[in-house]
Amino acid sequence: MNLVKVAVVGASGYSGQELIRILMRHPGVDLVCVTSRQLAGKTIAEAYPRFQHHRFSSVKFTASDAAGVVASGAKVAILALPHGLAHEYAQPLLEGGLRVIDLSADFRIKDPAVFQEFYGEAHPAPGLLAQSVYGLPEIYRDQIRTSNLVASAGCYPTSILLPLIPLLRAHLIAPASIAVASMSGVSGAGRKVASDYLFCECNESARAYGVPKHRHLSEIEQELSTAAGIPVVISFTPHLIPVNRGIVSTIYANLLPGVSAADITAALEGAYQNEPFVRLQGVTGSADIKNVTHTNYIDITWRHDPRTGRVVLMSAEDNLVKGASGQAVQSLNLMCGWPETEGL
Ligand SMILES: NC(=O)c1ccc[n+]([C@@H]2O[C@H](COP(=O)([O-])OP(=O)(O)OC[C@H]3O[C@@H](n4cnc5c(N)ncnc54)[C@H](OP(=O)(O)O)[C@@H]3O)[C@@H](O)[C@H]2O)c1
Repeated sequence: MNLVKVAVVGASGYSGQELIRILMRHPGVDLVCVTSRQLAGKTIAEAYPRFQHHRFSSVKFTASDAAGVVASGAKVAILALPHGLAHEYAQPLLEGGLRVIDLSADFRIKDPAVFQEFYGEAHPAPGLLAQSVYGLPEIYRDQIRTSNLVASAGCYPTSILLPLIPLLRAHLIAPASIAVASMSGVSGAGRKVASDYLFCECNESARAYGVPKHRHLSEIEQELSTAAGIPVVISFTPHLIPVNRGIVSTIYANLLPGVSAADITAALEGAYQNEPFVRLQGVTGSADIKNVTHTNYIDITWRHDPRTGRVVLMSAEDNLVKGASGQAVQSLNLMCGWPETEGL
């Protein structure tokens, strides 16, 4: 396997660290550049003792600037920066001939007006929106292979879109009836210091937030609408729960007249029976965070409720792996022509 030089921009955050962990074991990758304003000058091993004696542990963090990333010789850059910054890096990196995978929301929304509605500002680089591919490999595999700019799907959206898209494509559920409650571990908020996420504020407690218009609704509804072929608007209530990592989503939808429980099962099995990272747990299994943390799997299970005429879909994933860094490496594998599971 020819090694591909890769850079991680924003490598001191939770997703960035997870990328380092995965890429250290990836046989096709030469990690030539990791950036952080706070850790510049330190080696990976100095900054993160758990990475001592691993491949790339002597690579030094450099300042986060696009010219430095281009100069590193990297051919692919993975951006793990807070939202709102990616275009400052993506534009010069693309001009420098790199391919870019962005973990932020900056290039996920196709319509600049929707971006403005949910993110409160005009999109700074609408031209890049037009050329980005939504980074959900199970749905956009072929487009990702040839893309130079992949907007990796968000953590909550991944947990909601993968269960629902096959059912909407097959016209089995009423789009207007969809309601979702999700629970996320605290690492979903990133490593920044904010009082809402201090140990004493989160431990032994749980709370809803972002109601009724969490930002992730913009990409969730965009992708559900594409699957359904009509505009889809849903209810979504995220909750913060006192675990480090992991998301569970519970999704409700009314079955359309004449649709049976067996139709739901057939649609999900038809969509995912050959997918390496989607583990269908059938109509009796569970979707449990503990079974997916530190892996790139998403577990999906479902029940038909004849009393209400609804299907209840439940999914579990690690927000930092299938919801972020593992999914980005899945896209990297596609872009480089490697087996999609390489390093994962
Ligand atoms: N956490 C998750 O579960 C998750 C899941 C899916 C997607 N995402 C997305 O992935 C991205 C990274 O998330 P995260 O949770 O890993 O964030 P994080 O832990 O807060 O890390 C952010 C990184 O960006 C760097 N950074 C912050 N401000 C910067 C600035 N002004 N200029 C340059 N670098 C800056 C930080 O490093 P320095 O301060 O050292 O420079 C750090 O390495 C976000 O866009 C997030 O929405 C996160």
